[in-house]
Amino acid sequence: MSAIQIKDLTFVPYISETELQKLISDVAQKINSDYKGKEIIFVGVLNGVFMFASDLIKQIDLNCQVSFVKLSSYHGTETTEVVTELFGLVESVENKHVIILEDIVDTGITIEGLYHHLLSQNPASLEIGTLLFKPDKYTKDVPIKYIAKSVPNEFVVGYGLDYDGFGRNIPSIYQLKA
Ligand code: IMP
Ligand code: MG
Repeated sequence: MSAIQIKDLTFVPYISETELQKLISDVAQKINSDYKGKEIIFVGVLNGVFMFASDLIKQIDLNCQVSFVKLSSYHGTETTEVVTELFGLVESVENKHVIILEDIVDTGITIEGLYHHLLSQNPASLEIGTLLFKPDKYTKDVPIKYIAKSVPNEFVVGYGLDYDGFGRNIPSIYQLKA
């Protein structure tokens, strides 16, 4: 595999398809064992999560439901002001075991809003699973229970993750060339 160009940026191979599938199988096995005998509902955060959610959920052998939300966060006029809007509100998760699925948790701003929104509906339990996690950037207290891989603070694309809307179709993960 060699470097690829997306718009003005060059990216180099970072996590292969084989490694991705191994990391995802490990998470699926943990979930299958932690929730044995229970029913769960996955709430995936679009758009980035579509490939991870698909590959993970195929390996879940529990009774489960699958739902998706779309969140958009943007900075307001003040640099510290972040507005998060939620689209495609899920059915009530009251008394359900909920696992939120994300492609990547960076600062945690996106996931924090959804976490508290779902928590207010009194789920039986609420956890977060993410394909990638950037521990150096994370600023929140919300616990991230399932992390397929922690990564350094470098921009990545592929396997659902985008640069300016492009690159989501790449089957493995690439990192911005230094
Ligand atoms: P957070 O709200 O700062 O945690 O950012 C999470 C969202 O930002 C993710 O769901 C992604 O959509 C996007 N994001 C963060 N880091 C990256 C990256 O390295 N590549 C692509 N998207 C990213
Ligand atoms: Mg995302």
